[in-house]
This record gives sequence, structure tokens and C-alpha cells, in this order.
Amino acid sequence: MSIKKVMVIGAGQMGSGIAQVCAQSGYDVMLNDMNEKALNIGMKNIEKHLTRSVEKERLTSKEKEDVLNRLTPSQKLEDAADRDIVIEAVVENMDVKADVFRKLDNITPKEAILATNTSSLPITEIAAVTERPEKVIGMHYMNPVPVMKLIEVIRGLQTSEETFDAVMDMAGKLNKTSVEVNDSPAFVANRILMPMINEAIFTVYEGVASPEDVDTVMELGMNHPMGPITLADFIGLDTCLSIMEVLYEGFGDSKYRPCPLLRQYVKAGWLGKKSGRGFFQYN
Ligand SMILES: NC(=O)c1ccc[n+]([C@@H]2O[C@H](COP(=O)([O-])OP(=O)(O)OC[C@H]3O[C@@H](n4cnc5c(N)ncnc54)[C@H](O)[C@@H]3O)[C@@H](O)[C@H]2O)c1
Repeated sequence: MSIKKVMVIGAGQMGSGIAQVCAQSGYDVMLNDMNEKALNIGMKNIEKHLTRSVEKERLTSKEKEDVLNRLTPSQKLEDAADRDIVIEAVVENMDVKADVFRKLDNITPKEAILATNTSSLPITEIAAVTERPEKVIGMHYMNPVPVMKLIEVIRGLQTSEETFDAVMDMAGKLNKTSVEVNDSPAFVANRILMPMINEAIFTVYEGVASPEDVDTVMELGMNHPMGPITLADFIGLDTCLSIMEVLYEGFGDSKYRPCPLLRQYVKAGWLGKKSGRGFFQYN
């Protein structure tokens, strides 16, 4: 099938990035968020990124205008009625995602693909709330989407070959490298990354070292471009906690228990860069 019209749901840090790369690759894109303020911020962030690309001469002003003309803001899920694919990027919560997929199943054309950018939740379970599990697939982008080259493409138990091929083809058109992954808690990227981040938070919690020093160890000692505590702040501490919960429940193994300090920060509303404060402060 040929994909031309895209809707991205959730205009947060991931959704706005996904909408931007899709529009830059020539797709007709709607960016949807139920929250008007979040939608406006998402649209503004895209414009800001494109303006920076023009300043760095990676894009002409005409190309920037063309990309913006291919992008339409939306606050109604019903706008998905003519879309070929919907890419969901709302919060990492099964109940919220299931509700969105149930509604999309009624709104979108029967042949439309319903993809999720979930970091960890079972694709098979999300697919099961729809009447078209063969059209449901994981399309896990990395943060920040315009910069990072990888997409994990995750097959649910019932995902069809046709859906898989169409999404792999789209990933190529977005100039990304994709890897094929089977449905398993947190897939590959976060099954490996998130326990490392959780362990870094444990070293802070136990007073072994400060957040700054933990980051310095991993940056200078392991050549990581960014320390795990800063990375957790950038990902969002709520998202990190949700992924650890999925690993813990999914495998039933105590090695995945989330650090109590991570839980406490999330309860305090210290969610990282997006809320202005996590382990570090942001303006
Ligand atoms: N942050 C990361 O580094 C990262 C990386 C890869 C994947 N993900 C995944 O991407 C998804 C989004 O993460 P994020 O960091 O962009 O979160 P975010 O909190 O920045 O954005 C989520 C957005 O979804 C909107 N939203 C919530 N419920 C909605 C609904 N029912 N309909 C429409 N909009 C709704 C919110 O208003 C918000 O703007 C999550 O599943 C997350 O696990 C995150």
C-alpha cells in the first residue's frame, strides 16, 4: 500500500519530531493533540527547528515554507478519517493508548495502518483492542527524532507482512535505518538502556556519587556523549519510570525494580527537562 497522508497523535517532544521528519520527507501530515497549549508548543518547536536549519544552511527558506505548508494542526481525532497511517505518540500508559486505538479503529479507513511509538508497551495488547490487529505495528523513534537515525519496527503477534513492509518502506523514505524487532517488554533499545539509567539513579540514591559525577564517569570513562542522569532528564522521568514498570512486570524479575528515588521525583512532578526540573534544573 502507498502511504501519503499521516496523522501523528501527541504533540510532545516525540510527536512533534515525528511530524517534522514526515513533513520534511514530503508526507501530508496532521499533528494532533487534545491539549491546545501542547499542540501550539509542538507546532512552534517544529518551526523553531526548521528556522535553525535555515540559519545553518541545511534548508532553504522556500523548503522551510513547503514543510510548514504540509503540516496541519488538529485537535479532533475525527480528522484521522482520511489518513493512510496514524502514528500514536501520547503518554506511555496502556489505558490511554488503548483508548486512542479503540477510537482510531472506528474513525480511520479500514485499510489504514495504526502505528505506536511506545517505548515499551506490548504491541500485541494494543492491537487486540482493535478489529484490525494485522494493521497495528510498533514504530519506535529515538529522541530527538530529526537527529537520530534509528527506528525500531516492532511486529505484534498478528502484524501482517503487508503492514510490516509498508512501514519499513516509510522508514526508508524518512531517511532512517530500521531494525526488525519482535514484541517483548521494552523491545531492544530500552531493555538495554533503561536498566543502566535506573542503576545510575540507584548510585545517586545510595549516595555513591552526585548526579554530576555519575554523568562524568559515563561520559569520560565510557565515552558516552551524554551521562545517564542527564539522558533520563531528557527522556522524561515519567517515561523512564513507566518503562521500568513494564520491564519489572513483563519479566517478573527483581533486577528491573524501579529506583525509589525515580518514583519520588515523578510523584513530585520533577519530570526532567520538559517540566523544568529533574535531577538538574532547566530554564
Ligand atoms: N521521550 C523519549 O525520549 C521517547 C523516546 C521514544 C519513544 N517515546 C515514547 O513516545 C511517547 C510520547 O512521549 P513524549 O516524550 O513525547 O511525551 P510528552 O509528555 O512530551 O508528550 C505526550 C503528548 O501527548 C498528549 N496526549 C496525551 N493523551 C492524549 C490523547 N488521548 N490524545 C491526544 N494527545 C494526547 C499530551 O498532551 C502531550 O502533549 C511515549 O509513548 C513514550 O514512551 C519517548
